[in-house]
Amino acid sequence: MAEPSPLPHELLVRVEAFAPNPGDLAALPEIPAGSIPGWDGAGVVLEPAADGAGPQVGDRVLFLGLGARGWAQRRAVPHAATAAAPPDAESEHLSTLPVPATSALRALRKLGSILGRRILIVGATSAVGRIAVQLAARSGAHVVAVARDESRHAHLRRLGAHETHADLSSVTSRVHGAIDMIGGQHLVDAYALLESGATVIALGHSAGADERFPYGAFIADPKTSVRSITTFFLGSEPGLADEMAYLAADRQLQVGDIDTRPWTELATWIEHGTHHPSGRVVFRVDHGLPFPNTHKQGTGRERSALLKE
Ligand SMILES: NC(=O)c1ccc[n+]([C@@H]2O[C@H](COP(=O)([O-])OP(=O)(O)OC[C@H]3O[C@@H](n4cnc5c(N)ncnc54)[C@H](OP(=O)(O)O)[C@@H]3O)[C@@H](O)[C@H]2O)c1
Repeated sequence: MAEPSPLPHELLVRVEAFAPNPGDLAALPEIPAGSIPGWDGAGVVLEPAADGAGPQVGDRVLFLGLGARGWAQRRAVPHAATAAAPPDAESEHLSTLPVPATSALRALRKLGSILGRRILIVGATSAVGRIAVQLAARSGAHVVAVARDESRHAHLRRLGAHETHADLSSVTSRVHGAIDMIGGQHLVDAYALLESGATVIALGHSAGADERFPYGAFIADPKTSVRSITTFFLGSEPGLADEMAYLAADRQLQVGDIDTRPWTELATWIEHGTHHPSGRVVFRVDHGLPFPNTHKQGTGRERSALLKE
Protein backbone atom coordinates (compact mmCIF):
# COMPACT_ATOMS: atom_id res chain seq x y z
CA MET A 1 0.00 0.00 0.00
CA ALA A 2 1.06 3.58 -0.54
CA GLU A 3 2.59 5.51 2.33
CA PRO A 4 -0.08 7.47 4.22
CA SER A 5 -0.04 11.21 3.58
CA PRO A 6 -1.06 12.99 6.78
CA LEU A 7 -3.39 15.99 6.54
CA PRO A 8 -2.46 19.04 8.65
CA HIS A 9 -4.44 17.75 11.65
CA GLU A 10 -3.07 14.21 11.41
CA LEU A 11 -0.09 12.50 13.03
CA LEU A 12 1.94 9.81 11.37
CA VAL A 13 2.04 6.81 13.70
CA ARG A 14 4.19 3.72 13.57
CA VAL A 15 1.54 1.11 14.41
CA GLU A 16 2.86 -1.54 16.78
CA ALA A 17 -0.26 -3.46 17.73
CA PHE A 18 -3.96 -3.64 17.02
CA ALA A 19 -6.79 -5.62 18.57
CA PRO A 20 -9.72 -6.23 16.22
CA ASN A 21 -13.11 -5.59 17.80
CA PRO A 22 -16.58 -6.75 16.70
CA GLY A 23 -17.21 -3.48 14.84
CA ASP A 24 -14.04 -3.96 12.78
CA LEU A 25 -15.02 -7.50 11.90
CA ALA A 26 -18.62 -6.60 11.05
CA ALA A 27 -17.36 -3.87 8.72
CA LEU A 28 -15.00 -6.15 6.76
CA PRO A 29 -17.51 -7.27 4.10
CA GLU A 30 -18.28 -3.62 3.29
CA ILE A 31 -14.67 -2.52 2.86
CA PRO A 32 -13.61 -2.08 -0.76
CA ALA A 33 -10.94 -4.50 -1.94
CA GLY A 34 -7.50 -2.95 -1.78
CA SER A 35 -8.21 -0.65 1.18
CA ILE A 36 -6.92 -1.05 4.72
CA PRO A 37 -9.34 -2.14 7.44
CA GLY A 38 -9.01 -1.61 11.18
CA TRP A 39 -10.11 1.18 13.49
CA ASP A 40 -7.86 1.35 16.47
CA GLY A 41 -4.47 0.41 17.79
CA ALA A 42 -1.33 1.69 19.43
CA GLY A 43 2.18 2.69 18.48
CA VAL A 44 4.68 5.53 18.43
CA VAL A 45 4.42 8.94 16.78
CA LEU A 46 6.80 9.26 13.83
CA GLU A 47 5.70 12.73 12.74
CA PRO A 48 3.54 15.18 14.68
CA ALA A 49 0.53 16.91 13.13
CA ALA A 50 1.54 19.88 10.98
CA ASP A 51 -0.82 22.11 12.99
CA GLY A 52 1.27 21.34 16.09
CA ALA A 53 -1.58 19.89 18.19
CA GLY A 54 -1.64 16.50 19.88
CA PRO A 55 1.11 14.04 20.81
CA GLN A 56 4.64 14.68 19.64
CA VAL A 57 7.44 12.64 18.01
CA GLY A 58 8.36 9.58 20.04
CA ASP A 59 5.21 9.64 22.18
CA ARG A 60 3.61 6.29 22.71
CA VAL A 61 -0.01 6.63 21.65
CA LEU A 62 -3.26 4.83 21.29
CA PHE A 63 -5.64 5.87 18.56
CA LEU A 64 -9.21 5.40 17.53
CA GLY A 65 -9.31 6.14 13.86
CA LEU A 66 -12.50 6.30 11.94
CA GLY A 67 -12.76 5.04 8.42
CA ALA A 68 -10.38 2.13 9.01
CA ARG A 69 -6.71 2.21 7.84
CA GLY A 70 -5.44 0.91 11.20
CA TRP A 71 -4.18 -2.58 10.33
CA ALA A 72 -1.02 -1.21 8.79
CA GLN A 73 2.60 -0.47 9.64
CA ARG A 74 2.05 3.26 9.46
CA ARG A 75 -1.07 5.26 9.77
CA ALA A 76 -2.13 8.89 9.49
CA VAL A 77 -4.60 9.56 12.29
CA PRO A 78 -6.28 12.78 13.48
CA HIS A 79 -4.83 14.15 16.72
CA ALA A 80 -8.38 14.46 18.07
CA ALA A 81 -8.60 10.66 17.98
CA THR A 82 -5.14 10.04 19.45
CA ALA A 83 -3.95 10.11 23.04
CA ALA A 84 -0.48 9.96 24.55
CA ALA A 85 0.05 7.03 26.90
CA PRO A 86 2.62 6.57 29.65
CA PRO A 87 5.96 5.91 27.91
CA ASP A 88 6.37 2.54 29.58
CA ALA A 89 2.88 1.29 28.67
CA GLU A 90 2.89 -1.65 26.29
CA SER A 91 1.35 -1.20 22.87
CA GLU A 92 -0.30 -4.63 23.14
CA HIS A 93 -2.22 -3.49 26.22
CA LEU A 94 -2.97 -0.04 24.80
CA SER A 95 -4.32 -1.49 21.57
CA THR A 96 -7.13 -3.22 23.47
CA LEU A 97 -8.44 0.03 24.95
CA PRO A 98 -9.66 2.49 22.31
CA VAL A 99 -13.05 1.13 21.29
CA PRO A 100 -13.98 -1.09 24.26
CA ALA A 101 -12.76 1.06 27.13
CA THR A 102 -13.79 4.39 25.65
CA SER A 103 -17.25 2.97 24.86
CA ALA A 104 -17.65 1.80 28.45
CA LEU A 105 -16.56 5.14 29.90
CA ARG A 106 -18.68 7.19 27.49
CA ALA A 107 -21.73 5.00 28.18
CA LEU A 108 -21.37 5.43 31.93
CA ARG A 109 -21.00 9.18 31.55
CA LYS A 110 -24.24 9.27 29.61
CA LEU A 111 -25.98 7.69 32.60
CA GLY A 112 -25.03 10.70 34.74
CA SER A 113 -24.19 10.37 38.41
CA ILE A 114 -24.19 6.71 39.42
CA LEU A 115 -22.88 7.12 42.97
CA GLY A 116 -24.93 4.90 45.27
CA ARG A 117 -27.20 3.77 42.45
CA ARG A 118 -27.94 0.32 40.98
CA ILE A 119 -26.35 0.06 37.53
CA LEU A 120 -27.02 -2.94 35.30
CA ILE A 121 -24.31 -4.19 32.91
CA VAL A 122 -25.71 -6.74 30.46
CA GLY A 123 -23.04 -8.80 28.73
CA ALA A 124 -20.58 -8.12 31.51
CA THR A 125 -18.01 -10.61 30.22
CA SER A 126 -17.65 -8.75 26.94
CA ALA A 127 -14.63 -6.46 26.57
CA VAL A 128 -16.84 -3.39 26.97
CA GLY A 129 -18.70 -5.04 29.84
CA ARG A 130 -15.61 -5.92 31.87
CA ILE A 131 -14.38 -2.34 31.70
CA ALA A 132 -17.86 -0.98 32.47
CA VAL A 133 -18.05 -3.15 35.59
CA GLN A 134 -14.73 -1.78 36.87
CA LEU A 135 -15.47 1.86 36.08
CA ALA A 136 -19.00 1.70 37.52
CA ALA A 137 -17.76 0.07 40.73
CA ARG A 138 -15.06 2.67 41.28
CA SER A 139 -17.64 5.39 40.61
CA GLY A 140 -19.59 4.18 43.62
CA ALA A 141 -22.38 2.29 41.84
CA HIS A 142 -23.96 -0.92 43.05
CA VAL A 143 -23.02 -3.00 40.01
CA VAL A 144 -25.44 -5.66 38.79
CA ALA A 145 -23.59 -7.77 36.20
CA VAL A 146 -25.36 -10.15 33.83
CA ALA A 147 -23.34 -12.73 31.88
CA ARG A 148 -24.51 -16.10 30.62
CA ASP A 149 -21.29 -17.91 31.54
CA GLU A 150 -21.58 -18.51 35.29
CA SER A 151 -18.03 -19.85 35.49
CA ARG A 152 -16.87 -16.25 35.02
CA HIS A 153 -19.06 -14.68 37.70
CA ALA A 154 -16.35 -14.95 40.35
CA HIS A 155 -14.06 -12.98 38.05
CA LEU A 156 -16.71 -10.31 37.56
CA ARG A 157 -17.03 -10.00 41.35
CA ARG A 158 -13.29 -9.53 41.61
CA LEU A 159 -13.60 -6.73 39.04
CA GLY A 160 -16.16 -5.01 41.27
CA ALA A 161 -19.60 -6.48 40.52
CA HIS A 162 -21.81 -6.60 43.61
CA GLU A 163 -24.36 -8.98 42.08
CA THR A 164 -23.93 -11.46 39.25
CA HIS A 165 -26.71 -13.13 37.28
CA ALA A 166 -26.73 -15.61 34.42
CA ASP A 167 -29.80 -13.93 32.95
CA LEU A 168 -32.06 -11.02 33.70
CA SER A 169 -34.90 -13.10 35.12
CA SER A 170 -33.16 -13.33 38.50
CA VAL A 171 -32.65 -9.56 38.79
CA THR A 172 -35.56 -8.51 40.94
CA SER A 173 -34.89 -4.91 42.02
CA ARG A 174 -35.14 -2.01 39.63
CA VAL A 175 -32.03 -0.21 38.39
CA HIS A 176 -31.17 3.45 37.82
CA GLY A 177 -29.37 2.80 34.56
CA ALA A 178 -28.25 0.00 32.28
CA ILE A 179 -25.74 -0.65 29.52
CA ASP A 180 -26.63 -3.54 27.23
CA MET A 181 -24.07 -5.16 24.96
CA ILE A 182 -26.27 -8.09 23.87
CA GLY A 183 -29.61 -6.80 22.57
CA GLY A 184 -32.60 -8.96 21.66
CA GLN A 185 -34.56 -10.19 24.70
CA HIS A 186 -31.79 -8.84 26.95
CA LEU A 187 -32.65 -5.29 25.92
CA VAL A 188 -36.38 -5.90 26.39
CA ASP A 189 -35.76 -7.30 29.88
CA ALA A 190 -33.29 -4.56 30.82
CA TYR A 191 -35.84 -1.90 29.87
CA ALA A 192 -38.43 -3.60 32.07
CA LEU A 193 -36.07 -3.27 35.06
CA LEU A 194 -35.62 0.50 34.80
CA GLU A 195 -36.91 2.66 37.61
CA SER A 196 -38.58 5.99 36.95
CA GLY A 197 -36.18 8.40 35.27
CA ALA A 198 -33.76 5.64 34.26
CA THR A 199 -32.14 4.92 30.90
CA VAL A 200 -30.83 1.82 29.17
CA ILE A 201 -28.08 2.35 26.64
CA ALA A 202 -28.38 -0.18 23.84
CA LEU A 203 -24.68 -0.18 23.05
CA GLY A 204 -24.24 -3.55 21.39
CA HIS A 205 -26.25 -6.28 19.73
CA SER A 206 -24.04 -9.35 20.09
CA ALA A 207 -27.02 -11.71 20.16
CA GLY A 208 -28.02 -10.60 16.66
CA ALA A 209 -31.67 -10.95 17.65
CA ASP A 210 -34.76 -8.79 17.24
CA GLU A 211 -36.21 -6.83 20.14
CA ARG A 212 -39.93 -7.50 20.63
CA PHE A 213 -41.53 -5.48 23.39
CA PRO A 214 -44.75 -6.94 24.79
CA TYR A 215 -47.94 -4.92 25.03
CA GLY A 216 -47.72 -2.81 28.17
CA ALA A 217 -43.94 -2.36 28.13
CA PHE A 218 -44.35 1.35 27.47
CA ILE A 219 -47.36 2.02 29.67
CA ALA A 220 -46.02 4.24 32.42
CA ASP A 221 -47.12 4.30 36.03
CA PRO A 222 -45.75 6.35 38.93
CA LYS A 223 -42.89 3.89 39.43
CA THR A 224 -41.90 3.67 35.77
CA SER A 225 -42.47 7.15 34.42
CA VAL A 226 -40.05 8.75 31.93
CA ARG A 227 -37.86 5.76 31.13
CA SER A 228 -35.78 5.76 27.99
CA ILE A 229 -33.77 3.63 25.61
CA THR A 230 -30.92 5.31 23.83
CA THR A 231 -27.88 4.37 21.80
CA PHE A 232 -24.77 5.98 20.41
CA PHE A 233 -22.06 5.30 17.90
CA LEU A 234 -18.64 5.81 19.43
CA GLY A 235 -17.15 6.93 16.16
CA SER A 236 -19.51 9.90 16.06
CA GLU A 237 -18.74 10.98 19.61
CA PRO A 238 -16.61 14.13 19.90
CA GLY A 239 -13.72 14.66 22.29
CA LEU A 240 -12.57 11.10 22.96
CA ALA A 241 -8.85 11.84 23.29
CA ASP A 242 -8.99 12.91 26.95
CA GLU A 243 -10.93 9.78 27.85
CA MET A 244 -8.43 7.57 26.02
CA ALA A 245 -5.56 9.28 27.85
CA TYR A 246 -7.28 8.71 31.20
CA LEU A 247 -7.87 5.04 30.42
CA ALA A 248 -4.34 4.53 29.11
CA ALA A 249 -2.84 5.96 32.29
CA ASP A 250 -4.94 3.71 34.51
CA ARG A 251 -2.71 0.98 35.92
CA GLN A 252 -5.57 -0.78 37.69
CA LEU A 253 -7.82 -1.35 34.70
CA GLN A 254 -8.01 -5.01 33.72
CA VAL A 255 -8.73 -5.60 30.07
CA GLY A 256 -8.59 -9.39 30.34
CA ASP A 257 -6.20 -11.90 28.83
CA ILE A 258 -4.14 -10.64 25.93
CA ASP A 259 -3.39 -13.27 23.31
CA THR A 260 -0.62 -11.75 21.18
CA ARG A 261 0.00 -13.07 17.68
CA PRO A 262 2.03 -11.90 14.68
CA TRP A 263 -0.06 -9.92 12.25
CA THR A 264 0.72 -12.42 9.53
CA GLU A 265 -1.82 -14.68 11.32
CA LEU A 266 -4.66 -12.17 11.00
CA ALA A 267 -6.35 -13.71 7.96
CA THR A 268 -6.18 -17.23 9.40
CA TRP A 269 -7.64 -16.02 12.68
CA ILE A 270 -10.57 -14.37 10.89
CA GLU A 271 -11.18 -17.47 8.78
CA HIS A 272 -11.22 -19.82 11.78
CA GLY A 273 -13.42 -17.82 14.13
CA THR A 274 -12.58 -14.85 16.25
CA HIS A 275 -14.15 -15.52 19.63
CA HIS A 276 -11.94 -14.99 22.66
CA PRO A 277 -13.89 -15.63 25.83
CA SER A 278 -11.75 -13.86 28.39
CA GLY A 279 -9.85 -11.12 26.61
CA ARG A 280 -8.66 -9.87 23.28
CA VAL A 281 -6.50 -11.22 20.49
CA VAL A 282 -3.82 -8.64 19.74
CA PHE A 283 -1.80 -8.58 16.53
CA ARG A 284 1.73 -7.31 16.76
CA VAL A 285 2.83 -5.47 13.64
CA ASP A 286 6.15 -6.54 12.20
CA HIS A 287 8.36 -3.73 10.93
CA GLY A 288 11.43 -5.75 10.07
CA LEU A 289 13.71 -3.10 11.53
CA PRO A 290 14.04 -2.46 15.25
CA PHE A 291 12.81 0.94 16.38
CA PRO A 292 14.20 2.57 19.51
CA ASN A 293 11.67 1.64 22.14
CA THR A 294 12.51 4.53 24.37
CA HIS A 295 10.42 7.60 24.93
CA LYS A 296 11.22 10.61 22.74
CA GLN A 297 14.58 9.26 21.64
CA GLY A 298 13.94 8.45 18.00
CA THR A 299 16.20 10.71 15.95
CA GLY A 300 15.19 12.28 12.68
CA ARG A 301 17.55 9.96 10.83
CA GLU A 302 16.03 6.88 12.47
CA ARG A 303 12.56 8.00 11.55
CA SER A 304 13.64 8.64 7.97
CA ALA A 305 15.10 5.14 7.79
CA LEU A 306 11.81 3.72 9.00
CA LEU A 307 9.84 5.70 6.50
CA LYS A 308 12.04 4.48 3.67
CA GLU A 309 11.64 0.93 4.92
N1 LIG B 1 -22.26 1.51 19.74
C1 LIG B 1 -20.94 1.52 19.71
O1 LIG B 1 -20.31 2.50 19.33
C2 LIG B 1 -20.20 0.30 20.17
C3 LIG B 1 -18.91 0.43 20.66
C4 LIG B 1 -18.24 -0.71 21.14
C5 LIG B 1 -18.89 -1.96 21.06
N2 LIG B 1 -20.14 -2.03 20.54
C6 LIG B 1 -20.83 -3.32 20.48
O2 LIG B 1 -20.92 -3.81 21.81
C7 LIG B 1 -20.92 -5.23 21.77
C8 LIG B 1 -19.84 -5.75 22.70
O3 LIG B 1 -18.56 -5.45 22.13
P1 LIG B 1 -17.28 -6.17 22.74
O4 LIG B 1 -16.10 -5.75 21.98
O5 LIG B 1 -17.27 -5.95 24.20
O6 LIG B 1 -17.65 -7.69 22.43
P2 LIG B 1 -16.91 -9.06 22.83
O7 LIG B 1 -15.79 -8.80 23.75
O8 LIG B 1 -16.68 -9.78 21.55
O9 LIG B 1 -18.03 -9.84 23.67
C9 LIG B 1 -19.23 -10.26 23.11
C10 LIG B 1 -20.09 -10.73 24.28
O10 LIG B 1 -21.39 -11.07 23.80
C11 LIG B 1 -21.80 -12.22 24.50
N3 LIG B 1 -22.83 -12.87 23.68
C12 LIG B 1 -22.76 -13.15 22.37
N4 LIG B 1 -23.92 -13.71 21.97
C13 LIG B 1 -24.70 -13.79 23.05
C14 LIG B 1 -26.01 -14.29 23.28
N5 LIG B 1 -26.75 -14.82 22.28
N6 LIG B 1 -26.52 -14.22 24.53
C15 LIG B 1 -25.80 -13.70 25.53
N7 LIG B 1 -24.54 -13.21 25.39
C16 LIG B 1 -24.01 -13.27 24.15
C17 LIG B 1 -20.55 -13.04 24.68
O11 LIG B 1 -20.72 -13.91 25.77
P3 LIG B 1 -19.74 -15.18 26.00
O12 LIG B 1 -18.44 -14.61 26.47
O13 LIG B 1 -20.46 -15.96 27.04
O14 LIG B 1 -19.64 -15.87 24.67
C18 LIG B 1 -19.53 -11.93 25.00
O15 LIG B 1 -19.53 -11.63 26.38
C19 LIG B 1 -20.74 -5.63 20.31
O16 LIG B 1 -22.02 -5.86 19.76
C20 LIG B 1 -20.11 -4.39 19.69
O17 LIG B 1 -20.35 -4.30 18.33
C21 LIG B 1 -20.80 -0.93 20.10
